[in-house]
Amino acid sequence: MRSLTVDGLGPVSRIGLGTWQFGSREWGYGDDYADAGATAIVRRALELGITLFDTAEVHGPGKSERILGAALGEQRDDVVLASKVLPIAPFPKLVRKAWQGSAQRLGVRRIPLYQVHQPNPVVPDTVTMKGMGALLDEGRIGAVGVSNYTLDRWRLADEALGRPVISNQVEFSLAAAGPLDDLVPFAEAEDRLVIAYSPLAQGLLGGKYGVDNRPGGVRAMNKLFGTENLRRVEPLLAVLREVADAHHVAPAQAALAWLLAQPRTVAIPGASSVEQLEFNAAAADLDLAADEVAALTAAARAFDPQSTVSTLAERAKEEAGPLLERATPVLDRVRQALKR
Ligand SMILES: NC(=O)c1ccc[n+]([C@@H]2O[C@H](COP(=O)([O-])OP(=O)(O)OC[C@H]3O[C@@H](n4cnc5c(N)ncnc54)[C@H](OP(=O)(O)O)[C@@H]3O)[C@@H](O)[C@H]2O)c1
Repeated sequence: MRSLTVDGLGPVSRIGLGTWQFGSREWGYGDDYADAGATAIVRRALELGITLFDTAEVHGPGKSERILGAALGEQRDDVVLASKVLPIAPFPKLVRKAWQGSAQRLGVRRIPLYQVHQPNPVVPDTVTMKGMGALLDEGRIGAVGVSNYTLDRWRLADEALGRPVISNQVEFSLAAAGPLDDLVPFAEAEDRLVIAYSPLAQGLLGGKYGVDNRPGGVRAMNKLFGTENLRRVEPLLAVLREVADAHHVAPAQAALAWLLAQPRTVAIPGASSVEQLEFNAAAADLDLAADEVAALTAAARAFDPQSTVSTLAERAKEEAGPLLERATPVLDRVRQALKR
């Protein structure tokens, strides 16, 4: 497994494992997954040399951390565990309390990468980073990271911490390529790390979903699975399939390999099965040719998803259409009967 060396963290595998799915009802994977499937995925990830495991106090909430900590067992201190504080009121005392909860659930005394889950729109980073800095000084965490930060806010967080905030975890995939423009060049110039979340666009880049086969749960709210966007993404998926076919790999693997072709970038795909995890891990060793990377980048940049679509409303309308059509004669008969 290829890795990147990151200050304060040591080697970080370029493919990590995202664990939001563990114990989270919104993915709809059920109890068997939480009880056994998730553990099997973590054990296999360790065997395959994955060292980066991402979680958050809010996933589950708390369940993802518990399941991950238990599944890692004795090896939990040998990997780069990454968790996150939800900064609702990120005052130093509360940041410490959140850290304590996460460390306890994970079963560790030190969390290698502790991230601020999202920028607080009201509380500045000068406040949040006081608590994070104290944890760093005491060795309770190995490095400070942020998540969902713009480049400007990442720089402000640096200033507030008085040291480099080592990573920024952001939505980044062929279907959400914005970080290419600013975060990736910054990470490359400053030796930081971009951690790509939803690197498979929540399964869209696996190539199996379409208008007649859409995922439910939390993904029913994802605009990318709306009818219009499923249409708009087709040209991108066509290029992805072509590149994948040329290497005899699955589309998901080519999508991950494209991310890993970007400097200072690692990806943390979630997995619903051990088989998916194995596919994703193998992508770390897949080298795309420069012209393939360029073709995928061009297709990613050309993809212009509709941003205002409400997938639920859209779907309700679509599903109601045929139902209403079928119901019309019945309603007409009822109306006639009432008139009589
Ligand atoms: N910091 C944040 O705000 C934030 C936000 C979101 C996520 N995250 C982190 O990022 C991680 C990953 O993001 P994500 O789970 O949103 O999206 P993702 O990794 O893009 O998608 C994961 C889903 O894609 C499908 N999949 C995985 N491997 C596949 C393969 N080889 N072929 C085909 N389909 C495959 C699986 O769903 P099916 O099999 O059911 O289709 C899986 O649950 C999360 O677990 C979490 O740790 C962080």
